[in-house]
Amino acid sequence: MAWNPEQYTLFSDHRLRPALDLLAQVPINPPSVIYDLGCGTGNVTSIISQHWNDAVVVGIDSSEEMLAKARGDHPSIEWKQGDISNFNPTSKGNLIFSNAALHWLDDHETLFPMLLSNLRPGGVLAVQMPNNFNAPSHQNIYELAQTPKWIDKLGGLVRPAPVHNINWYFDLLSPLARRINIWETTYFQVLEGKNAVLEWTRSTALRPFLQTLDEKSVDTFEAEYAERLLEAYPQRRDGSTLFPFSRLFIVVQTDED
Ligand SMILES: C[S@@+](CC[C@H](N)C(=O)[O-])C[C@H]1O[C@@H](n2cnc3c(N)ncnc32)[C@H](O)[C@@H]1O
Repeated sequence: MAWNPEQYTLFSDHRLRPALDLLAQVPINPPSVIYDLGCGTGNVTSIISQHWNDAVVVGIDSSEEMLAKARGDHPSIEWKQGDISNFNPTSKGNLIFSNAALHWLDDHETLFPMLLSNLRPGGVLAVQMPNNFNAPSHQNIYELAQTPKWIDKLGGLVRPAPVHNINWYFDLLSPLARRINIWETTYFQVLEGKNAVLEWTRSTALRPFLQTLDEKSVDTFEAEYAERLLEAYPQRRDGSTLFPFSRLFIVVQTDED
């Protein structure tokens, strides 16, 4: 799908915080080859690169729009266009980092072991993924898309929740790992402005649905969705909106040899 870097960076503080929480748990120092998969506009990649400034850092993303911003903002970092599901670098990494990207890919049973196989001995895979597919922000998109009015155009875009539970990842990854650190956090994000949750999902979960509609249908779909959102996430007396957001974190270190 096409990404919109401007819309995505509207909530950059909220989006950055889990990336920093993940980075704080990476147990190796200093890695020499680092890949940031699904690097987007590269703001997290740039923090990684400042943190380990002797390392070779490569940001990989499938979206040319996001990479164009990354290249413009951080010209000294290496950026590559590519699909994470085909990740097969010539030089294996000490650290593979991925913030808020792997939930866009299906089949994690194959994906995660494939990523681990691209690490050097003792290397680390560090991943953060939203785990809010059952939240009203997402369920209301899926429910609306499956109503008779929208199902022909949008029904096919509803996919099963791509992210599994903590036990599932632990059972998959612990036989392949020396150490595994896995946790979940719900951030109670305070958003400002009217239709704040709609503004948020416009750049992420809602995006594939809007992209298949013409302009008039976009307005209608958004209005129906916004009405449901206001019920699920009412604006507080001070004008803010509390938007609880669950995220799953996984840090896996492989054996030394
Ligand atoms: C929500 S953004 C996160 C960007 C960045 N990691 C951050 O923390 O700001 C998700 C990014 O994953 C990228 N992405 C999604 N599926 C991908 C795939 N199969 N291969 C490569 N990149 C992908 C998107 O293009 C987008 O830039």
